[in-house]
Amino acid sequence: MKDLSYHILDIVQNSLNAGAQRVEIDLWEETPTGRLTLKINDNGRGMDADMLKRITDPFFTTSVKKKVGLGLPLLKQNAELTGGSCSVESESGQGTRVTAIFNRNHIDMIPTGDLAITLKTLIASSHERDFLFTCRRDEEGFEVNTAEIRSQLEGVSLASREVLDYISTFIRDNLKSMT
Ligand SMILES: Nc1ncnc2c1ncn2[C@@H]1O[C@H](COP(=O)(O)OP(=O)(O)OP(=O)(O)O)[C@@H](O)[C@H]1O
Ligand SMILES: [Mg+2]
Repeated sequence: MKDLSYHILDIVQNSLNAGAQRVEIDLWEETPTGRLTLKINDNGRGMDADMLKRITDPFFTTSVKKKVGLGLPLLKQNAELTGGSCSVESESGQGTRVTAIFNRNHIDMIPTGDLAITLKTLIASSHERDFLFTCRRDEEGFEVNTAEIRSQLEGVSLASREVLDYISTFIRDNLKSMT
């Protein structure tokens, strides 16, 4: 079964495939209600209204390599199984925003998975693009902003092992201190 970090990888991959230069990933948990909101916002090529209508159809894909596109339908299904929802807003030439809402306390809630590895993988594979990862639980939270990190590196590559390890350790430590 898919976990949340796998979905994040999948949805952000859509953004990268759509030519996004900047992807914002926002994960927000409200513990009193168990509500977990995932928002992925990109500045890629977006979709027109017609395409947007078909996007949660599992047989719709613009990929030439395969016949089914399952990324969004599976996210929607997993969100809805917890009593949540998933919506996609997009404008051609502007970008796309995917919002998935889960109920963390529901028995069918998928596991979180390894967010630190997921983010590290995304940054390593597309280090010339910008990622803004924000993670919040009630009043606590932290963010990773690769544009900001890059500007402080003074020539060292964002994709170097040391920097990637630093980022994943930072995420792991912050997640741990939030639990
Ligand atoms: N962020 C996005 N920006 C622009 N187009 C998108 C975006 N996300 C999805 N799409 C369009 O919607 C289609 C369906 O996306 P979906 O993730 O469900 O399947 P896929 O990416 O084609 O295949 P899979 O995720 O199974 O590898 C994509 O082929 C793409 O044309
Ligand atoms: Mg996809």
